[in-house]
Amino acid sequence: MAVIAKHCPEYQVTVVDINHERIAAWNSDKLPVYEPGLEKIVREIRGKNLFFNSDIEDAIKKNDIIFVSVNTPTKTYGVGEGMAADLQYWEKTARQILNHAESSKVVIEKSTLPVKTALAMESILLSQNNGLTFDVLSNPEFMAEGSAIDDLEKPDRVLIGSQETEEGRRARDILVDIYAHWVPREKILTANIWSSELSKLVANAFLAQRISSINAISALCERTEANVEEVARAVGLDSRVGSKFLNASVGFGGSCFKKDILNLVYLCRGYGLNEVADYWEGVVRINEYQKKRFVLNMLRTMFNTLAGKRIALFGFAFKADTGDTRESPAIDIARHLLDEMAEVVITDPKALDNVHFELGDLLGTGRIHMISDPYKAAEGCHALAIMTEWKQYRQLDYEKIYRSMMHPAFIFDGRNILDPDRLYKIGFNVYSVGKSPLTHFQD
Ligand code: UDX
Repeated sequence: MAVIAKHCPEYQVTVVDINHERIAAWNSDKLPVYEPGLEKIVREIRGKNLFFNSDIEDAIKKNDIIFVSVNTPTKTYGVGEGMAADLQYWEKTARQILNHAESSKVVIEKSTLPVKTALAMESILLSQNNGLTFDVLSNPEFMAEGSAIDDLEKPDRVLIGSQETEEGRRARDILVDIYAHWVPREKILTANIWSSELSKLVANAFLAQRISSINAISALCERTEANVEEVARAVGLDSRVGSKFLNASVGFGGSCFKKDILNLVYLCRGYGLNEVADYWEGVVRINEYQKKRFVLNMLRTMFNTLAGKRIALFGFAFKADTGDTRESPAIDIARHLLDEMAEVVITDPKALDNVHFELGDLLGTGRIHMISDPYKAAEGCHALAIMTEWKQYRQLDYEKIYRSMMHPAFIFDGRNILDPDRLYKIGFNVYSVGKSPLTHFQD
C-alpha cells in the first residue's frame, strides 16, 4: 500500500488493522516489519496520502476500493486440518464490509486464497440485496520478503483477475489504472478470476518445486562426489530451465511455500485428483527430508552423539534480509538438535527476538542460548551451522572463530555461502550441502 500511495498521490490510502499495537508501530519511528527501502517511503508519505489507523468501520464507509490482506493460515482444526486454508478471517472481513458499506465497493483479494474463493465472497457480499454493488477482483501478490520494495517497484508482472462481465471488467480497469501509474502496461496481465487465484498457488508451488528438485539432487551429489553448485549451473544455463532459485539449501522456509502447496494439495484431493496431489505433496516431503538429513549428517559426522555438545546456528530468519522466522528451517534444525540433547546457541542480526516465540516451549530446557555477536556465539562450540545466507556471515574472520571453538571443529554450511577449501585449510571439518565433505579424519 505504501508503494501504491507513493506512485498515486491523488489517491488516499488508509491501512487498517484490528491490532492496535501494530498500527501504533506503523505510526512510530520503529516500523513493525523490517524491509529494505520501506521505511524511507513510509516516512516520506505518511500523513500525506498514506494513513494507518484501527477504525475499520470508518475505513469501510469512506473508501471505494478495499484490498483485503488478512492472513489465510493453514487450518489447525476440523476438516482439512493441516492442509486447507483457514478462511475465517477472510469471511469475517467480507461480512464486516457488507455490514458497514454505505456505497458500492471494489473488493480485492490480496490474500492468497484457494481457487473459487471469490465466488463465496461475492455470495456473502451480495446476500443483503441492499442496492449496493460489490465487485470482487483477485490481485495476488508475488513480492518476496527482503526484496519487497524492488519487487513492487519493478514487478515481473501484475496479475488482475475479474469476472468476465461488464461490471467485472469495469472494476478490473479501476485497478489496472492504479498499477499503470508505474508498471508498464504490457506487464499488467488480466485474466479470469479463477486463473488469477490459482496462478498464485501455482507460482509458489513451482518456485518451491525448483528448490526441492535441487535439494533432492544435493543428496545424490553428496554420495557421488558431484558438486551441486556445478550441477545447478550446468542445468540452469539452459534458457528453458533458467538459473534462478536453484540454490541447494537446508530447506525452504517462509510463510508461503509450505502453506500454499498444502492448500494446492488439498484442493486437488477435493477434486479427486490424487495423483496430482501426491506429485505436489512430494515437494513438501523432500523439504522435510532435507532438514532431517542435515541433522542426521551432523549426528553421524560428530561421532554419533550430540548430547552436551554446543552447536552454534548462524541465522534464524528463513532467509537473509528479513527478521521473519515463519517456517524457518532453523527452527526445525534447532528442535532436532535439542532432541539430541545438544546445547544450541542461536545468533541472527535481525531475528533473535523471535526465538522466544518460535522455541518458547523448549526454553525451559536451559539448552537454548541467544547471542547476537557471532564471534561470541561460536566461542566454545563444537560445531557451527549456517542456517541463513546473511551477507555478514561470509565476511567473518573464521580463523578467529576456529581458535575460539572446541576441536575438532565442524562447519555445516546449509546455504553454501562459505568457501570450503579455505575453511578446511584453517582446520575445520567442512560439510556443505550437496558437496563432498572435507575432513581431517582418516576414512
Ligand atoms: C515467496 C515467493 O518468492 C514470492 O513470490 C511470494 O509472493 C511469497 O513467497 P518469500 O517467502 O518471501 O517469497 O521468499 P523466497 O525468496 O521465495 O524464499 C523462500 C525460501 O526458499 C527461503 O527459505 C529461501 O532461503 C529458500 N530458497 C530460495 C532456497 O533454499 N533456494 C533458492 O534457490 C531460493
